[in-house]
Amino acid sequence: MPLNTIEWKNGAVRLIDQTKLPIELEYLQTDDYQVLGDAIRQLKVRGAPAIGIAAGFGVVLGVQHLRDVSQSEFISKGLKIIDYLAGTRPTAVNLFWALGRMRAILEQSAGEMSIEQTKARLLREAQDILEEDRKICRNLGRNGASLLPDNATVLTHCNAGSLATADYGTAIGVIYAASEEGKNIRVYADETRPLLQGARLTTWELMQNKIDVTLICDNTAAFVMQQGKIDCVLVGADRIAANGDTANKVGTYNVAVLAHHHQIPFYVVAPVSTLDLTLENGSRIPIEQRASEEVTMGFGKRTAPSGVKVFSPAFDVTPHKLITAIVTEKGIARGSYRDKLKKFKNNT
Ligand code: MRU
Repeated sequence: MPLNTIEWKNGAVRLIDQTKLPIELEYLQTDDYQVLGDAIRQLKVRGAPAIGIAAGFGVVLGVQHLRDVSQSEFISKGLKIIDYLAGTRPTAVNLFWALGRMRAILEQSAGEMSIEQTKARLLREAQDILEEDRKICRNLGRNGASLLPDNATVLTHCNAGSLATADYGTAIGVIYAASEEGKNIRVYADETRPLLQGARLTTWELMQNKIDVTLICDNTAAFVMQQGKIDCVLVGADRIAANGDTANKVGTYNVAVLAHHHQIPFYVVAPVSTLDLTLENGSRIPIEQRASEEVTMGFGKRTAPSGVKVFSPAFDVTPHKLITAIVTEKGIARGSYRDKLKKFKNNT
């Protein structure tokens, strides 16, 4: 059952409000780019590819209401909308990659396209970003499935599934692809504190798709590895630097260290749009800090004293040495990542 995480419908964006899952499958429909920007900030739509797609449509929403303006005003207002959307979340590079595609069209439109033509061209680009994601994730899935033997048990962290992309997923897409090939795959899903993307989203979508999934607390990962229950780890990524260092949901680094200790393969699965080859290594990846209440008052219940100091990065960076392979839609990179990742990127 494919899930349409985000789509364009009658001049508006319609997306699954992921903050409501798993209790309700509710959709948010809006034609206001600021409402969409808030939805990205509040993780109503989340996951690197999905927020890239959302940002593309956000530009379309913003410019579609611009009327009675000169072409230069249209372009400068469009660029402001892009800047606004770029300020929503800092880590996933897919957001900036998608906005870069929208920006290029806007800037190229000067003297070449009317305002109405530019609006139509921007909509087409946003729809292309979404359609490409559907295909890319299926290719990623096929490539990654080659790493999974029949009867494999996989541990995953956060949600890199349908809900994090247009409809199929990256790391979880590998599981879908393997099971479509007839393999029997079991999954252990980390709950993923503090916002529980693993517990609320990954288990929900795997259950919808009839994949055998077991939820564990984050701090149970070491024990299930020690007991020999895990054959490999599959995770997504928010930004991958030129040397393969990978930013993903905080706690991913913990899992990589544990996998290394237990000699379990640790695979990162991500589209080429997640590669940021402008960064030599992971030390300069901007890491989003989230509000302390997400830790002390998660889901409305106080679980720590009022006023306690909190450090809550949304992501961490796994050093490339702990990564067994990086799976992309262009192929699988292993060992020394730099040249291979460059080849994948330049080959798009
Ligand atoms: O804060 P989130 O929920 O947007 O974090 C998402 C992740 O860390 C995912 O693992 C990552 O974006 C890859 S999604 C295919």
